[in-house]
Amino acid sequence: MDFQARYNAYLEAIDGYLGRLFTADRPYKKLYEAIRYSLLSGGKRIRPVLTLEFARVGGMDWHLALPYACALELVHNYSLIHDDLPCMDDDDLRRGKPTNHKVYGEALAVLAGDALQPEAFRMIAQAPMMSAENRLEAIQVLARACGADGMVAGQVLDTVCDVRDEAGRRELDRLKTGVMISAAAELGCVAAKMPPTMRLQALEYANQIGLAFQIRDDMLDVTGDEAVFGKPVGSDRDGGKVTYVDLKGLEGCREEVARCTERAKSAVSAWGDRAFLLELADRLLQREK
Ligand code: IPE
Ligand code: IPE
Ligand code: MG
Ligand code: MG
Ligand code: MG
Repeated sequence: MDFQARYNAYLEAIDGYLGRLFTADRPYKKLYEAIRYSLLSGGKRIRPVLTLEFARVGGMDWHLALPYACALELVHNYSLIHDDLPCMDDDDLRRGKPTNHKVYGEALAVLAGDALQPEAFRMIAQAPMMSAENRLEAIQVLARACGADGMVAGQVLDTVCDVRDEAGRRELDRLKTGVMISAAAELGCVAAKMPPTMRLQALEYANQIGLAFQIRDDMLDVTGDEAVFGKPVGSDRDGGKVTYVDLKGLEGCREEVARCTERAKSAVSAWGDRAFLLELADRLLQREK
């Protein structure tokens, strides 16, 4: 199966799974509406795609890993809803549409994000066909990635701490973006019960992809076309942030993204079934959205 066909198969399964959530008729259906607005607004789904691909390469029927993959996507979407709030990055545009709080107001945006977090963990806890031990391991992987020493720590460093040096920036980016991308890969490994050596290689791939992903995001915040990027260009500068682009310049960033991509690809160079991962790394290197 070629890259695009496989990506599309994953996308269809992910969007199908997410589309069936939060559909019941409730007196508080505004909450469901606000959640679905963000969840189904055309994200690239690279994190759940990573989960499913590592599950597949690990030798399992990847469909069974959908609850793990989509749980992480729920947390990712909560992080974006909150990231756009006036008290955070104060952005009006996400995936080419008005941000959640612009449509539903700040209270509902905060609450939609709040609700997505426990629902994610419930999704893992209830995953059919997975052993209790396996679900517990998955819960720990996700909790570690998004918790006080993970993504939230990165967001704290990015919003309320004035990080201005390269080492600090690298650690910030690892925390706010890298750990969630690595956890996405790890969830696939957990689901497939991948052997330790292979799991380490998968994690190295994801760590490198994750760093490249955030540097590319910072580049697009400067050079991107808003109509394609789907987010406001210049948001980091307006927010007074010192990003990788300020520290290394656009050319320096381009080189760093290329280096990370090469490291990611070589991490899985011993794998027979690596074509999708190699192409994914290359596509992310060149992404415009
Ligand atoms: C945006 O992530 C936040 C960052 C970590 C840069 P994505 O670029 O994966 O966002 P969507 O889900 O595709 O919109
Ligand atoms: C956000 O980083 C990372 C998280 C939401 C955890 P950014 O603030 O750079 O993401 P965008 O550019 O708004 O998507
Ligand atoms: Mg931010
Ligand atoms: Mg932001
Ligand atoms: Mg950004």
